[in-house]
Amino acid sequence: MGLITWTEALETNQPEIDEQHKNLIDAFNSLHEAMARGRGREQVSKTLLFLTNYTVQHFRQEEAIMDQAGYPDAPRHKLMHHGLVVRLSALMKDYVVAPATLTGSTLDFLEGWLVEHIQAEDFRLATYLRERG
Ligand SMILES: [Fe+2]
Ligand SMILES: [Fe+2]
Repeated sequence: MGLITWTEALETNQPEIDEQHKNLIDAFNSLHEAMARGRGREQVSKTLLFLTNYTVQHFRQEEAIMDQAGYPDAPRHKLMHHGLVVRLSALMKDYVVAPATLTGSTLDFLEGWLVEHIQAEDFRLATYLRERG
């Protein structure tokens, strides 16, 4: 999959959410680049830590929007967020012990997860927010 390019196909039309998704994609791309260019362990760790922290922050804010709007599908959506955070945390721990565990295909999986999540779950949330007005 490689680098993710932002396109309108990822746009929820919720400015706050879109802005954060763009930053999240940038963070993924930075990690991708750090790995592809064979950057040192320290640089990759730093990028991975930033990505994980930013993901947590974005999910928290998206969940606050859901709660505020009384989004009925919030529990399921939050569970998916939780799943990715658990996965990222495990990835970070594994990377510290054994850097070889972080591979391009792991990254591809995560990027695929993000794109699918935005287009399915976040779009559904955005539609709800729009219809609710
Ligand atoms: Fe989400
Ligand atoms: Fe999101």
